[in-house]
Amino acid sequence: MNDNLKKLLDEAKAALGEAANLDDAEKLRVSMLGKKGRLTEILRSMKDMAPEERKSFGQAANEARAQFEALLAEKVEELKAAQKEAKFKAETIDVTEPGISNAPGYKHLVTLVIDDTIDFFTSLGFTVAEGPEIDTVHNNFDALNAGPNHPSRDMTDTFYINDSTLLRTQTSDVQARVIAKGETPIRLISPGRVFRCDTPDATHSPMFHQIEGLVVDEGITMADLKGILDLYAKHLFGSHLKTKLRPHHFPFTEPSAEMDVECFKCGGKGCNVCKGSGWIEILGCGMVHPNVLKFGNIDTEKYTGFAFGIGVERIAMLKYGIDDMRLLYENDIRFIEQFR
Ligand code: DAH
Repeated sequence: MNDNLKKLLDEAKAALGEAANLDDAEKLRVSMLGKKGRLTEILRSMKDMAPEERKSFGQAANEARAQFEALLAEKVEELKAAQKEAKFKAETIDVTEPGISNAPGYKHLVTLVIDDTIDFFTSLGFTVAEGPEIDTVHNNFDALNAGPNHPSRDMTDTFYINDSTLLRTQTSDVQARVIAKGETPIRLISPGRVFRCDTPDATHSPMFHQIEGLVVDEGITMADLKGILDLYAKHLFGSHLKTKLRPHHFPFTEPSAEMDVECFKCGGKGCNVCKGSGWIEILGCGMVHPNVLKFGNIDTEKYTGFAFGIGVERIAMLKYGIDDMRLLYENDIRFIEQFR
């Protein structure tokens, strides 16, 4: 091989050795074999040579070109492999690295009591009905036998929207809605929010939750009411506790009662939870007043029923030992976490 060719090949080899990436390799290829490449120019210059010289020079030049091409191909493979390797390295995921964790949520005490109550009553064949928070004066009062002069209708107790609509003061409005359909039998509970003009304090809030219950069927008696609500009280506070019904008044039930459960803290002896009485009031109830059933044209000779209303916050406060209702609405996750 002639000296010029050898020198060129050595230079190309050295440059190849230094090529750090595919771009460098491509530049080198163009500088050697491109249209104006150095090897191309040498090959082109052969046309001016004498035939003898051309033959041997041509062989050497082609050999130099073949050598360069082989070395270049090898280098390109090497660089491609290195590039792939670097990419893999850069994209490696460390599966042992700790992840970004989401703090789990907890059910609010109001939700816990509602869910637990739904579980209890649906297991006895009750369905869950819902009613809107804005309802008619008719559903909230008139259809529930609360006459025009009933004190709860007072502007100072009830949030009126206008003469005929209000924020419902009780989930009993769902009784009116369901009875109006006139379909029997009925066996439902209905949890939801209710509203009253109260200033917040340890035991009052202008918004709170109730769970209504309503059963209407042939042959329903007060014994059914007592049996089911006694089971519910025992489910909530302990199966060893006694319950009692104490006479009361509600416009939509007759007779009406409040149910008390033996104090779960002192077992009836008297303590701070039951304020010394040994009993704790947990709900209102009674036999559905015939005037209420009449709004659904339900035959009151054939059908009877019972109803009850549970104050959700009250149950939650008793069950979880909370002395201020406002804690339930402060939205402090640390408060809820204590009861998970
Ligand atoms: N609605 C009543 C209240 O808000 C609670 C209540 C008592 C509901 C007796 C009833 C019932 O269904 O039978 O005070």
